[in-house]
Amino acid sequence: MRSKTFKFVALTAGLVVSPLALASGDAPSLLVGTCISCHGPAGSSVGPANPSIAGIMENDDFVESMQDYRDDKVPSTIMGRIARGYSDDDFKAMAEYFGGQELVRAEQAFDAKLAKKGKKIHNKYCEKKCHEDNGYDNKKGVLAGQWMPYLEYALADFHDGSRKTSKEREKAGDGKMEKKMKKMLDKKGVEGLESLVHFYGSQTKSK
Ligand code: HEC
Repeated sequence: MRSKTFKFVALTAGLVVSPLALASGDAPSLLVGTCISCHGPAGSSVGPANPSIAGIMENDDFVESMQDYRDDKVPSTIMGRIARGYSDDDFKAMAEYFGGQELVRAEQAFDAKLAKKGKKIHNKYCEKKCHEDNGYDNKKGVLAGQWMPYLEYALADFHDGSRKTSKEREKAGDGKMEKKMKKMLDKKGVEGLESLVHFYGSQTKSK
């Protein structure tokens, strides 16, 4: 029936194309259509367990992160399965699209005391040469304003060793992350991680 087919097409077009049309004129719509259902129309997600991915890392790192999910090099609940369906060129197009979007930070409930402690810990262990500008800089991954539950899972994975810096990144000097985290944990314990999460969650400034 013609009218049914038309309705179907209109519905899928509405779902997949229009949020992107709002977000950016030249989005690779078919490719990122799947992503936006979890990561938000332009990569700023609305849900606390789905990280925002707008402008949070450099394009090369985005591609590598997708390859790591695809090749099971990093633990994931969902991304391992999703990343399997795409080629490296697809990842590049996704990186370009999401890398070009501005991260919209949501207000989150945080504990001010923990956030204050977290800022000190950040300055001592995370800021220098890595998560610069209070975690707003994207060279090693934006932390400021990321969803707190997601940060908690991600930090827990680093903490128990299930997520590690890849060999490639270690060569580029990023292996220091585990060392710094271990140092921090030896001194501050798990409350140190919690404090960092509250600090990053307290940051809502847009840049
Ligand atoms: C069903 C929900 C869902 C869909 C669809 C989805 N993601 Fe994800 N994404 C997640 C979750 C949850 C995580 C955290 C890792 C995990 O547990 O899988 C994540 C993590 C990521 C990260 C890492 C963020 C970081 O902080 O390192 C990137 C990059 C990413 N996704 C990109 C994409 C792209 C590109 C697509 C589309 C091809 C996509 N995602 C589709 C849920 C989703």
